[in-house]
Amino acid sequence: MTSLLFSPFTIKEITCRNRIGVAPMTRMSASGDSIPREDVLQFLITRAKNGAGMVYTEAIVTDYESAQGYPGQARILNQNQVDAWKNVTDEIRRNGAVSLCQVFHCGRMAYDGINPANRVIAPSPVAPMQENPMTGAPYPVPEQMSRFDMNHVINGFVETTKGVIAAGFDGLELHCAHGYLLSQFLSTYANRRTDAYGGSMENRYRFVHEVIQAVRPHIPDDRLLLVRVSNWGIADMEVSLFSDAAEWQKMIQLFSQEPIDAISVSTYDFSQPAFGTDKTMAGITRDATDLPLLICGKIFDKKTAEQALQDADLVLSGKSMLLNPDLVSDIAAGRKLALYGSEEAGVAYTATPLP
Ligand SMILES: Cc1cc2nc3c(=O)[nH]c(=O)nc-3n(C[C@H](O)[C@H](O)[C@H](O)COP(=O)(O)O)c2cc1C
Repeated sequence: MTSLLFSPFTIKEITCRNRIGVAPMTRMSASGDSIPREDVLQFLITRAKNGAGMVYTEAIVTDYESAQGYPGQARILNQNQVDAWKNVTDEIRRNGAVSLCQVFHCGRMAYDGINPANRVIAPSPVAPMQENPMTGAPYPVPEQMSRFDMNHVINGFVETTKGVIAAGFDGLELHCAHGYLLSQFLSTYANRRTDAYGGSMENRYRFVHEVIQAVRPHIPDDRLLLVRVSNWGIADMEVSLFSDAAEWQKMIQLFSQEPIDAISVSTYDFSQPAFGTDKTMAGITRDATDLPLLICGKIFDKKTAEQALQDADLVLSGKSMLLNPDLVSDIAAGRKLALYGSEEAGVAYTATPLP
């Protein structure tokens, strides 16, 4: 019997050789030049060599003003940064996989001193409730973004998109998940604005719409534009960012009217029913869109990958891809595999090269 997991999937002109890919994972390895350590770049190439259908980069920071949230994050804004990533995309392609670059602005998930211009900006002057694990201190109360700030942020996304395309990526993903800036606009949890960018779902969606409209003209028709969404954020993790399935589906419908090529849904656990329904996040999303869907969250072996494909077109794996260089061949062989815990993911931030 042919396996769906190991059958190709095509989005526009881009074909993934199978349905399993490397989820975006921040590694915090870059120094002052905002270029990841060589072994961190090699890690992505190794995953392509070992059979992944698609390989995501870590979240790439979109400007030098306020976009960075963690030490050692990368940018693709100058020629040296483009050159470093060009080698990675060439090698990923040569090894048969699709290269996808995730780009992000952290919004309020920042702290004093992390950005060269030392600003923390967000839709509204509201900080997350929990402390920042990076500093052990409360997150600073962000400055509410002005129209000037919004234009500057959009410009950062546009300039980064130019870098991503120059570096040869097959696609770019806007990080609209996990409580970072675009996610902050989408949810009432961080967006308390009373202007045209706050209130109704349509209003909260407006800034994301402007970003999509600004970047799309810089992405050739044969490359992809994706978005990643989630109902949870890295800070205050227990908070549901959307009130119910209807609100989530309203957002998905707004995304579906855009010139985007796929939606990636990030969950803690793909198999869990969501929003008090008997459907998974992927199932609820699929009911609201015809776009190709990617799903992630505790997909670690053949059984979970195949189960996840019942409601999605492609599956992504994070920690299992990080910790097991042979994940794809192990899955193909139907090997018994273990689910990794979050504490094991700390290996992502060590200076020791991963196999
Ligand atoms: C070390 C590490 C870094 C991560 N960095 C990002 C990131 O930059 N962008 C993102 O969207 N998700 C990030 N994630 C979340 C993963 O993409 C994925 O959604 C999560 O690990 C759940 O999938 P898993 O159960 O297969 O690990 C990160 C996860 C880990 C473990």
